[in-house]
Amino acid sequence: MNVRADNQVQDRSLIGIYHHPTDVSAGRWSVSCSERPHLYRIQHRRTNGDTHIDTVVDLDNLEAKLQKWHREGFVHQERAKDNAELADRSTFMNDLRASATTDPAIVDSSIGTARVGCVVMALGTGGPLVPPMNPAYLFATRSDNVFLDIAENRRILLIGHTGTGKTSLIEQVAAHTNQGVLRSNMNGQTTVGDFVGFWTVKGGETIWVDGVLPTAMREGLWLIVDEIDFAEPAILAVLTAVLEPGGRLLLKEKGNEIVAPHPSFRLFATANAVGSMGQYRHLYQGANLMNEAFLDRWRVYHIDYLSRDDEAQVLQRTFGARVSTAMAQTLASIAAECREAFTREDLGSAFSTRRLLDWTELMLRTRDPETAAGPTIYSKVSAEDAAFIRSIIQHHIALDR
Ligand SMILES: Nc1ncnc2c1ncn2[C@@H]1O[C@H](COP(=O)(O)OP(=O)(O)OP(=O)(O)O)[C@@H](O)[C@H]1O
Ligand SMILES: [Mg+2]
Repeated sequence: MNVRADNQVQDRSLIGIYHHPTDVSAGRWSVSCSERPHLYRIQHRRTNGDTHIDTVVDLDNLEAKLQKWHREGFVHQERAKDNAELADRSTFMNDLRASATTDPAIVDSSIGTARVGCVVMALGTGGPLVPPMNPAYLFATRSDNVFLDIAENRRILLIGHTGTGKTSLIEQVAAHTNQGVLRSNMNGQTTVGDFVGFWTVKGGETIWVDGVLPTAMREGLWLIVDEIDFAEPAILAVLTAVLEPGGRLLLKEKGNEIVAPHPSFRLFATANAVGSMGQYRHLYQGANLMNEAFLDRWRVYHIDYLSRDDEAQVLQRTFGARVSTAMAQTLASIAAECREAFTREDLGSAFSTRRLLDWTELMLRTRDPETAAGPTIYSKVSAEDAAFIRSIIQHHIALDR
């Protein structure tokens, strides 16, 4: 074995090593700078490590050698590795494209179907709990995966700032599919009793009253658990059981009765400060951390504010001809600018679609954006934020005074 040659290969003057990817017995060529200027040292090492060619060539000669090795199937070692890695990475995406499901979920409904976004969904049985349809509601294409998940009976957690449209997204899908909805808000007085059920005395008789969870599970309703990041641990513990597909609820308080989910039952939750929204927890005081094991049981979608154009469209759909295209664009731009300021932390409060709609509605009555901003915006934020928002409004609208 030629030790000197081995050292040479590891030398800093090394230019490259060429090997045969499929024929190991072909050995490998190394090219390095020679001690003599403008000359190159080429060495061939056999598989056993012996160097049996060790010569110095000029550039023309080296180029001829490189072409010959290329013809023989030798490849540059690093490049070969890069190519192999690239091929591996491409293989993954090609295989994925070939196997990805493009068809909407299979729908099994004796009642009928409705199309929501690009997804065909089964119709519900209707009833007084179907939310009213909002004709101004805009289903953004970003929500198609949420619709598919509903069709496939996944547990869906929508996270995002206040007023981005989390609750209304589910309610509007329900409205379009004639599906009854129950809502339970965790940022209030909701107790485990309200959620699961309780015993009470009625007409001298002790009776059991189902809470919202077993009611929704038995009757095939959709349950939206709003602000789940404020829920007490006992409620989260009960929920965990029904998060598994087909998960059953054990009513311990009712002699361990088991409640099996109706096929139409769906479970949704919304939160402001969970997962990737955790960085804004300081804005939602009292919000709890949710552990990863709990989060892993949901499909977690981040619902951001609508784009400027979509929000302008919502304004026009909501208020019709009373809001011109130019007005809608201006108002949507003001909202977008306030949100940018919020992201930069120049503003301490977010600017929700709800706030924008409310401001516009009052503006149409008062005919004055500034007067309308009082009860709908300024009174809800700090004096500094109000001044900042006022300056953004004035930047876009020449106010009367
Ligand atoms: N895509 C949309 N199309 C039309 N209106 C929308 C849309 N998204 C939101 N809105 C309007 O914004 C209002 C607030 O939305 P929603 O109550 O769903 O927000 P949220 O994210 O649940 O807020 P919170 O976190 O405060 O509960 C809705 O009532 C609706 O009027
Ligand atoms: Mg909500």
